[in-house]
Amino acid sequence: MSGARSRGVGLACAVAAVAAAAAVAGGLAAGDDAAEGWQLAARYTARLAFPIFLAAFVAGPWHRLRPGAASRWLLRHRRAVGLAFATVFAAHLVSLVTFNVLERTLPVPPTLVVGGGALVVAALMAATSNDAAVRRLGAKRWGRLHTVGMWWLWLVFTITYGGRLAGSPDFFALFALACVAAVVLRVAGRRRRTPARLADAA
Ligand code: HEM
Repeated sequence: MSGARSRGVGLACAVAAVAAAAAVAGGLAAGDDAAEGWQLAARYTARLAFPIFLAAFVAGPWHRLRPGAASRWLLRHRRAVGLAFATVFAAHLVSLVTFNVLERTLPVPPTLVVGGGALVVAALMAATSNDAAVRRLGAKRWGRLHTVGMWWLWLVFTITYGGRLAGSPDFFALFALACVAAVVLRVAGRRRRTPARLADAA
Protein backbone atom coordinates (compact mmCIF):
# COMPACT_ATOMS: atom_id res chain seq x y z
CA MET A 1 0.00 0.00 0.00
CA SER A 2 2.80 2.40 -0.79
CA GLY A 3 2.65 5.61 -2.76
CA ALA A 4 1.17 9.08 -2.54
CA ARG A 5 -2.41 7.82 -2.50
CA SER A 6 -1.74 5.98 0.75
CA ARG A 7 -0.59 9.03 2.66
CA GLY A 8 -1.94 9.17 6.17
CA VAL A 9 -3.50 5.68 6.08
CA GLY A 10 -1.75 4.35 9.20
CA LEU A 11 -2.55 7.41 11.29
CA ALA A 12 -6.16 7.60 10.07
CA CYS A 13 -6.79 3.94 10.88
CA ALA A 14 -5.17 4.27 14.30
CA VAL A 15 -7.28 7.34 15.17
CA ALA A 16 -10.40 5.60 13.82
CA ALA A 17 -9.66 2.48 15.90
CA VAL A 18 -9.33 4.56 19.09
CA ALA A 19 -12.52 6.50 18.30
CA ALA A 20 -14.40 3.28 17.51
CA ALA A 21 -13.20 1.70 20.76
CA ALA A 22 -14.44 4.81 22.61
CA ALA A 23 -17.83 4.55 20.86
CA VAL A 24 -18.13 0.89 21.85
CA ALA A 25 -17.05 1.66 25.43
CA GLY A 26 -19.60 4.51 25.56
CA GLY A 27 -22.35 2.15 24.40
CA LEU A 28 -21.41 -0.53 26.92
CA ALA A 29 -21.31 2.05 29.72
CA ALA A 30 -24.70 3.51 28.76
CA GLY A 31 -26.57 0.21 28.37
CA ASP A 32 -28.54 -1.25 31.30
CA ASP A 33 -27.30 -4.72 30.42
CA ALA A 34 -24.77 -6.26 28.04
CA ALA A 35 -27.23 -6.69 25.17
CA GLU A 36 -28.42 -3.09 25.34
CA GLY A 37 -24.81 -1.97 25.66
CA TRP A 38 -23.86 -3.72 22.41
CA GLN A 39 -26.98 -2.35 20.71
CA LEU A 40 -25.89 1.15 21.70
CA ALA A 41 -22.35 0.34 20.61
CA ALA A 42 -23.76 -0.52 17.16
CA ARG A 43 -25.66 2.78 17.16
CA TYR A 44 -22.69 4.89 18.21
CA THR A 45 -20.24 3.24 15.82
CA ALA A 46 -22.70 3.87 12.95
CA ARG A 47 -22.96 7.52 14.00
CA LEU A 48 -19.20 7.81 14.08
CA ALA A 49 -18.85 6.14 10.69
CA PHE A 50 -21.48 8.33 8.99
CA PRO A 51 -19.53 11.64 8.70
CA ILE A 52 -16.41 9.74 7.65
CA PHE A 53 -18.43 8.02 4.92
CA LEU A 54 -19.89 11.37 3.80
CA ALA A 55 -16.40 12.87 3.51
CA ALA A 56 -15.29 10.05 1.19
CA PHE A 57 -18.59 10.14 -0.73
CA VAL A 58 -18.42 13.85 -1.57
CA ALA A 59 -14.65 14.35 -1.85
CA GLY A 60 -14.52 14.06 -5.67
CA PRO A 61 -17.62 16.10 -6.56
CA TRP A 62 -16.79 18.76 -3.98
CA HIS A 63 -13.34 19.25 -5.51
CA ARG A 64 -14.74 19.34 -9.02
CA LEU A 65 -17.39 21.91 -8.11
CA ARG A 66 -15.39 24.14 -5.73
CA PRO A 67 -11.72 23.25 -5.74
CA GLY A 68 -9.82 24.62 -2.77
CA ALA A 69 -7.23 23.66 -0.19
CA ALA A 70 -9.71 21.67 1.95
CA SER A 71 -11.21 19.71 -0.94
CA ARG A 72 -7.74 19.03 -2.35
CA TRP A 73 -6.57 17.75 1.02
CA LEU A 74 -9.61 15.51 1.31
CA LEU A 75 -9.15 14.13 -2.19
CA ARG A 76 -5.48 13.40 -1.55
CA HIS A 77 -6.36 11.58 1.65
CA ARG A 78 -9.43 9.79 0.34
CA ARG A 79 -7.89 6.35 0.70
CA ALA A 80 -7.04 7.11 4.34
CA VAL A 81 -10.59 8.39 4.92
CA GLY A 82 -12.08 5.28 3.31
CA LEU A 83 -9.97 2.94 5.40
CA ALA A 84 -10.78 4.91 8.55
CA PHE A 85 -14.45 4.35 7.70
CA ALA A 86 -13.80 0.62 7.24
CA THR A 87 -12.04 0.50 10.62
CA VAL A 88 -15.00 2.08 12.40
CA PHE A 89 -17.39 -0.15 10.49
CA ALA A 90 -15.53 -3.24 11.66
CA ALA A 91 -16.54 -2.13 15.17
CA HIS A 92 -20.16 -1.77 13.96
CA LEU A 93 -19.99 -5.35 12.69
CA VAL A 94 -18.53 -6.66 15.96
CA SER A 95 -21.20 -4.75 17.94
CA LEU A 96 -24.17 -5.91 15.90
CA VAL A 97 -23.00 -9.53 15.86
CA THR A 98 -22.44 -9.52 19.63
CA PHE A 99 -25.84 -7.91 20.15
CA ASN A 100 -27.55 -10.57 18.04
CA VAL A 101 -25.67 -13.39 19.78
CA LEU A 102 -26.62 -12.10 23.24
CA GLU A 103 -30.23 -11.57 22.22
CA ARG A 104 -30.30 -14.89 20.34
CA THR A 105 -31.87 -13.16 17.37
CA LEU A 106 -31.17 -12.86 13.68
CA PRO A 107 -31.69 -9.71 11.64
CA VAL A 108 -34.72 -9.90 9.34
CA PRO A 109 -33.92 -11.16 5.80
CA PRO A 110 -34.07 -7.72 4.08
CA THR A 111 -31.54 -6.37 6.62
CA LEU A 112 -29.35 -9.42 6.12
CA VAL A 113 -29.38 -9.02 2.34
CA VAL A 114 -29.17 -5.22 2.00
CA GLY A 115 -27.18 -4.41 5.17
CA GLY A 116 -25.11 -7.59 5.06
CA GLY A 117 -24.41 -7.03 1.36
CA ALA A 118 -23.22 -3.51 2.14
CA LEU A 119 -20.85 -4.90 4.77
CA VAL A 120 -19.42 -7.37 2.26
CA VAL A 121 -18.98 -4.62 -0.34
CA ALA A 122 -17.35 -2.35 2.26
CA ALA A 123 -14.91 -5.17 3.11
CA LEU A 124 -14.10 -5.64 -0.59
CA MET A 125 -13.54 -1.91 -0.98
CA ALA A 126 -11.18 -1.87 2.01
CA ALA A 127 -9.31 -4.92 0.72
CA THR A 128 -8.81 -3.27 -2.68
CA SER A 129 -7.80 0.16 -1.39
CA ASN A 130 -4.16 -0.28 -2.33
CA ASP A 131 -2.07 0.28 -5.45
CA ALA A 132 -1.51 -3.43 -6.08
CA ALA A 133 -5.26 -4.15 -6.13
CA VAL A 134 -5.89 -1.23 -8.50
CA ARG A 135 -3.25 -2.68 -10.85
CA ARG A 136 -4.62 -6.22 -10.54
CA LEU A 137 -8.27 -5.30 -11.05
CA GLY A 138 -7.66 -2.60 -13.65
CA ALA A 139 -9.00 0.92 -13.24
CA LYS A 140 -12.36 0.15 -14.84
CA ARG A 141 -13.30 -2.82 -12.63
CA TRP A 142 -11.86 -1.13 -9.57
CA GLY A 143 -13.94 1.95 -10.31
CA ARG A 144 -17.11 -0.08 -10.77
CA LEU A 145 -16.62 -1.89 -7.46
CA HIS A 146 -16.01 1.31 -5.54
CA THR A 147 -18.81 3.25 -7.22
CA VAL A 148 -21.36 0.49 -6.55
CA GLY A 149 -20.05 0.15 -3.00
CA MET A 150 -20.33 3.86 -2.24
CA TRP A 151 -23.88 4.01 -3.52
CA TRP A 152 -24.85 0.83 -1.65
CA LEU A 153 -23.51 2.25 1.61
CA TRP A 154 -25.26 5.55 0.93
CA LEU A 155 -28.51 3.64 0.36
CA VAL A 156 -28.28 1.80 3.70
CA PHE A 157 -27.49 5.00 5.61
CA THR A 158 -30.39 6.76 3.87
CA ILE A 159 -32.88 3.93 4.48
CA THR A 160 -31.79 3.68 8.14
CA TYR A 161 -31.93 7.39 8.93
CA GLY A 162 -35.01 7.94 6.75
CA GLY A 163 -36.74 5.16 8.68
CA ARG A 164 -35.91 6.85 11.98
CA LEU A 165 -37.47 10.16 10.98
CA ALA A 166 -40.95 9.09 12.09
CA GLY A 167 -39.76 8.29 15.64
CA SER A 168 -37.55 11.35 16.29
CA PRO A 169 -37.95 13.77 13.39
CA ASP A 170 -36.03 16.63 15.02
CA PHE A 171 -32.97 14.55 15.82
CA PHE A 172 -32.80 12.47 12.64
CA ALA A 173 -33.70 15.31 10.22
CA LEU A 174 -30.05 16.38 10.23
CA PHE A 175 -28.83 12.87 9.34
CA ALA A 176 -31.47 12.42 6.62
CA LEU A 177 -30.78 15.89 5.19
CA ALA A 178 -27.05 15.10 5.09
CA CYS A 179 -27.86 11.98 3.00
CA VAL A 180 -29.90 14.05 0.55
CA ALA A 181 -27.36 16.91 0.40
CA ALA A 182 -24.58 14.42 -0.29
CA VAL A 183 -26.43 12.92 -3.22
CA VAL A 184 -27.24 16.36 -4.65
CA LEU A 185 -23.55 17.28 -4.45
CA ARG A 186 -22.52 13.97 -5.98
CA VAL A 187 -24.93 14.28 -8.91
CA ALA A 188 -24.06 17.96 -9.45
CA GLY A 189 -20.36 17.17 -9.49
CA ARG A 190 -20.68 14.25 -11.86
CA ARG A 191 -18.78 14.31 -15.10
CA ARG A 192 -17.30 11.84 -17.50
CA ARG A 193 -14.31 10.12 -15.88
CA THR A 194 -11.38 8.56 -17.60
CA PRO A 195 -9.85 5.27 -16.36
CA ALA A 196 -6.75 7.22 -15.33
CA ARG A 197 -8.85 9.39 -13.05
CA LEU A 198 -10.49 6.37 -11.51
CA ALA A 199 -7.12 4.88 -10.73
CA ASP A 200 -6.13 8.24 -9.26
CA ALA A 201 -9.04 8.06 -6.86
CA ALA A 202 -8.05 4.67 -5.43
C1 HEM B 1 -26.59 -7.11 8.44
C2 HEM B 1 -26.13 -5.88 8.54
C3 HEM B 1 -26.42 -4.94 9.69
C4 HEM B 1 -27.03 -5.17 10.88
C5 HEM B 1 -27.64 -6.47 11.42
C6 HEM B 1 -27.01 -3.92 11.63
C7 HEM B 1 -27.45 -3.79 12.94
C8 HEM B 1 -27.53 -2.60 13.60
C9 HEM B 1 -27.94 -2.43 14.98
C10 HEM B 1 -28.27 -3.58 15.95
C11 HEM B 1 -28.00 -1.11 15.23
C12 HEM B 1 -28.41 -0.43 16.55
C13 HEM B 1 -29.91 -0.20 16.51
C14 HEM B 1 -30.35 0.88 17.47
O1 HEM B 1 -29.93 2.04 17.32
O2 HEM B 1 -31.12 0.58 18.37
C15 HEM B 1 -27.63 -0.43 14.03
C16 HEM B 1 -27.63 0.93 13.86
C17 HEM B 1 -27.33 1.54 12.68
N1 HEM B 1 -26.72 0.96 11.58
FE1 HEM B 1 -26.39 -1.00 11.30
N2 HEM B 1 -26.41 -2.97 10.86
C18 HEM B 1 -26.04 -3.54 9.67
C19 HEM B 1 -25.39 -2.93 8.62
C20 HEM B 1 -25.33 -1.58 8.49
C21 HEM B 1 -24.79 -0.89 7.33
C22 HEM B 1 -24.16 -1.55 6.12
C23 HEM B 1 -24.97 0.46 7.57
C24 HEM B 1 -24.62 1.65 6.71
C25 HEM B 1 -24.10 1.60 5.54
C26 HEM B 1 -25.59 0.61 8.85
C27 HEM B 1 -25.96 1.79 9.40
C28 HEM B 1 -26.56 1.93 10.63
C29 HEM B 1 -27.08 3.19 11.12
C30 HEM B 1 -27.10 4.50 10.37
C31 HEM B 1 -27.57 2.94 12.40
C32 HEM B 1 -28.31 3.91 13.32
C33 HEM B 1 -27.39 4.83 14.07
C34 HEM B 1 -28.19 5.91 14.78
O3 HEM B 1 -29.20 5.64 15.44
O4 HEM B 1 -27.79 7.05 14.64
N3 HEM B 1 -25.76 -0.65 9.39
N4 HEM B 1 -27.33 -1.35 13.06
